[in-house]
Amino acid sequence: IRFAIFASGNGSNAEALYQATKEGHLHGEVVGVFSDKEEAFVLERAAKWDVPTAQLSPKAFASKVDYEQAVLDQLRSWQVDFLVLAGYMRLIGPTLLNAFPNKIVNIHPSLLPAFPGKDAIGQALAYGVQVTGVTVHLVDAGMDTGPILAQRAVEVQATLEQTEACIHAVEHELYREALDQLWNEERMK
Ligand code: GRF
Repeated sequence: IRFAIFASGNGSNAEALYQATKEGHLHGEVVGVFSDKEEAFVLERAAKWDVPTAQLSPKAFASKVDYEQAVLDQLRSWQVDFLVLAGYMRLIGPTLLNAFPNKIVNIHPSLLPAFPGKDAIGQALAYGVQVTGVTVHLVDAGMDTGPILAQRAVEVQATLEQTEACIHAVEHELYREALDQLWNEERMK
């Protein structure tokens, strides 16, 4: 399975997935890293891995369709089978959804459908939940909606920082496991 990682920021999930492919724990190949943000740290990480990167700013295009068409051209040149969103802070539009039906996966730091959207961990703590978690799901046109592939619970810790650390550690493991299972099923088709 040839996959592209989409990320807008730090890229710790991207890093964990890339390392998992190298260590043989995830049976797929990162063929490119795409970011909508020029300053995204994930681009520096990918440069170290020797994986091609592409960066396009939506603002440079007249419409979302034009932007996603340019993204699609890049993905075609990388011959991508799956898109793996890892902190990509934009909704996927019809251009990419139609080009990759049921082949776009996202990870979200809550037990969906609770706390979709930005700052899910902050939302969960503000609500006062004692258990939150991580969800891996197929992407549809909604915000953090789409069929759930895997979920794992995480207990809220004494501080925000500790809760975040637990959630990120679970993310790095759960994303690899969920993708590996999805792609095993894909190979059986
Ligand atoms: C993760 O919490 C992910 O679930 C969310 O955005 C964050 C990205 O973190 N969608 P990183 O850039 O992978 O470190």
